[in-house]
Amino acid sequence: MILVTGGCGFIGSNFILDWLALHDEPVVNVDVLTYAANPKTLASLDGDSRYTFERADICDRAAIDAILAKYQPRAVVHFAAESHVDRSIHGPMAFMQTNVIGTGTLLEASRNYWKALTGEQATKFRFLHVSTDEVFGSLGPGDGKFTETSQYQPNSPYSASKAGSDHLARAYFHTYGMPVLVTNCSNNYGPRQFPEKLIPLMIVNAHAGKPLPVYGDGQQIRDWLYVGDHCSAIRRVLEAGRPGELYLIGGDAEKPNLDVVKTICRLMGQYVPGRDYEQQITYVADRPGHDRRYAIDFSKLERELGWRPTESFATGLEKTVRWYLDNAAWVADVQSGEYKQWVEKNYVARG
Ligand code: NAD
Ligand code: TYD
Repeated sequence: MILVTGGCGFIGSNFILDWLALHDEPVVNVDVLTYAANPKTLASLDGDSRYTFERADICDRAAIDAILAKYQPRAVVHFAAESHVDRSIHGPMAFMQTNVIGTGTLLEASRNYWKALTGEQATKFRFLHVSTDEVFGSLGPGDGKFTETSQYQPNSPYSASKAGSDHLARAYFHTYGMPVLVTNCSNNYGPRQFPEKLIPLMIVNAHAGKPLPVYGDGQQIRDWLYVGDHCSAIRRVLEAGRPGELYLIGGDAEKPNLDVVKTICRLMGQYVPGRDYEQQITYVADRPGHDRRYAIDFSKLERELGWRPTESFATGLEKTVRWYLDNAAWVADVQSGEYKQWVEKNYVARG
């Protein structure tokens, strides 16, 4: 079986659902259930004998040791993290704790577990650390794209904490020979993303008749990847990636934020006609230290492992808007409780 961390979050839940749709290999999901987790996301797996949930914090060494000993996974796929840049600006310590200390604890527990394995179990073991392109900093309009040899230049507490975790993962390969793989992916979108991130926030606010808050001039560029394509890339790297290597994953879909928001408004106009959604666009104060552009050259992954995204931005966004409109109960669930305080903290002060 494989062990997944952070499987109640956005990408981890999509990964588990896709994995079990394609394989019968069991999954144990280790998640502490922060605000970003919605256990109902995986309700369709209730009663499925291939799926087990363990509520635990990756910073809790004793709990992780016990889970590794109990399930004896052949691989660890590590998604668990604090993942939102704006939250890292308001409260960076949680990011240092989970992303650096948590990843360090998970690596150390996994090393201890892996060292005791023998034969094929030891050689075939993999630790796949899921990371972000934000560790490489910001590109100018005329720059090329990020590659596996780009310099680490993180600019936010989030990306700095992810960079720290990437360095630890690298060190565990170089120092201990542990079979570690690192993937750095561009911005994801798709079903089950917490509506604090750009795309789901714009869909749910558009639908609710609320403002669509665009930071600064809205000309910041992100390279968007549909979450299902990220999951297929991770499966491929897990299957055939070379330990010690970094693989960049991207969507070949660079878009300025304002274009993304306007496209969502157009789709909303088709699916729920009767309103001019663009009138809801509101310019608000920019994010401090806002990275201007991210773009990924994924040719290494394509050349070595034959991976390419299958979804275009147009088809992926259509599916995503439809999913949020069809899953109003899921949205209402994640918007209860802590979410309201976040909206107050992040947006009211921006004016
Ligand atoms: P998310 O915030 O939606 O989910 C994170 C999950 O991790 C949640 O279920 C949360 O409960 C869990 N978690 C947090 N702290 C934990 C802890 N201490 N112990 C156990 N579980 C904990 O995040 P996401 O968007 O699904 O991102 C998953 C991973 O992918 C992250 O490592 C992120 O850095 C990386 N990534 C995300 C994107 C993106 O666009 N979302 C792009 C590239 C890389
Ligand atoms: P986000 O989804 O937070 O991802 P990241 O910061 O990790 O790239 O934001 C994507 C882009 O959208 C980023 O340039 C910030 C911008 N943005 C807004 O303009 N308004 C918003 O309300 C949010 C959440 C993001």
